[in-house]
Formats: sequence, structure tokens, C-alpha cells
Amino acid sequence: LALSSIAVLLAYLIGALPFGYLIAKWARGVDIRTVGSGNVGATNVGRVLGFKYFVLVMTLDLLKGLGPTLGFPIAVEAMTGRSVPILAVPVALAAILGHNFPVYLRFKGGKGVATSLGAVLALDPIAAAAAAVAFLVVILLTRYVSMSSILGGTAFVIVHFARAREPWTASDLTLALLIAVLYVMLIYRHRSNIGRIRAGTESKVSFGKKARE
Ligand code: G3P
Repeated sequence: LALSSIAVLLAYLIGALPFGYLIAKWARGVDIRTVGSGNVGATNVGRVLGFKYFVLVMTLDLLKGLGPTLGFPIAVEAMTGRSVPILAVPVALAAILGHNFPVYLRFKGGKGVATSLGAVLALDPIAAAAAAVAFLVVILLTRYVSMSSILGGTAFVIVHFARAREPWTASDLTLALLIAVLYVMLIYRHRSNIGRIRAGTESKVSFGKKARE
């Protein structure tokens, strides 16, 4: 149990690594929190610094979710000889909470889209793939990243629960609870975007040459 607690704490500290903030600072000397949407995520870094930086921050933020969720249960099993697949659930939650509420940025972090995708890629890859497809379809249709993230998350929830087979085990239930919490958090973190979409002021991405630099 002590080792599992350390794994969860470590997942939080990894999730809290503010790659979007650091990369914008190192590459251009800008405080990403003061430009664009003010968000420290890949979308806003890409918006301000260019598409290459979106890809870089997206990849690193995704790995913060995927790495611990996939790796920590394996590492703990290797160290103790006991299988702890359920550890993936609190580890995933800790990594995403780290991204959204990072200790290094006075707990003002991102919206958890990339980190959540990384985590759910480890927990339910088929539903995660459906989320990615939904994201791409919605972004092509609307050009709103925030709406694509929300509907991608919605697709994940639908596909995950549509594929669930009864009877539910304790670990199925734990995972279901995690997914519910993540979904509510995803919507809540996008409340300013939802307000802007309704007001017609949300910024859209462009797929032209300029957007890719
Ligand atoms: O990853 C967050 C995305 O869904 C919205 O980001 O910068 O447009 O608020 P942003």
C-alpha cells in the first residue's frame, strides 16, 4: 500500500509538469497564461507559437497520462510480485489532477484533454480511439477545439459504457466512477469555452498554411 501511495503521488507530480507553460517560456519567452485563451494546454500554445508546438505539447501532456497509467501498475508488480491493475485508476486520476491543478503553477493548470486522452488510452484503447475519431470529425466540422474535446470525451463515455459487459466487477465499477469524474471535470474546465461558444466569440482553428507556420 505504501508503494501504491508513492505511485499516486508521483503520478500527480508528473501530471503537474507544466510543459505548455515551460515550452512557451523557453521557445519564445512568453507567459502562455497571458496570451490567447490564457490556457496552458497544447491548443493555446499552438495558437500562439504555431502548429509544431501544438504537436510537441500535445505529445508531452499525453505521455503524462499514458506513462504512469500504463507503467506504474507494471512497476509496482515488478517490485512486489503482486498484480495491482486497479492502481491504474487512482494513478490516472492523480496525473490528470496534476495537469489541471499543478503545484508548480499555484494550482492553476490546464483542461486535462491531452493528459486524459493518454490515461484513457491505457484504460480503454478502443473507446479512446473512438474519442479521437469524434474529435477529428468535430474539429473539421466546427473548428472549435474545445467543442471537439467535449464531444470527444462524450464519445469516449458512450463507447466505453456501450461495450461494458455484465456482470460488473468491482474494478469495472471503479473504472466507471473514474470515467464519470473525468467527464464532469472535462466539462467544468471548459465552462469559459462553453460561454464563448454560446456568445459566438470562441476562437476557431484554421487549417491553412498560416496555421502550420
Ligand atoms: O485542450 C483544451 C482545449 O479543449 C481548449 O483550449 O485554449 O481553446 O481554451 P483553449
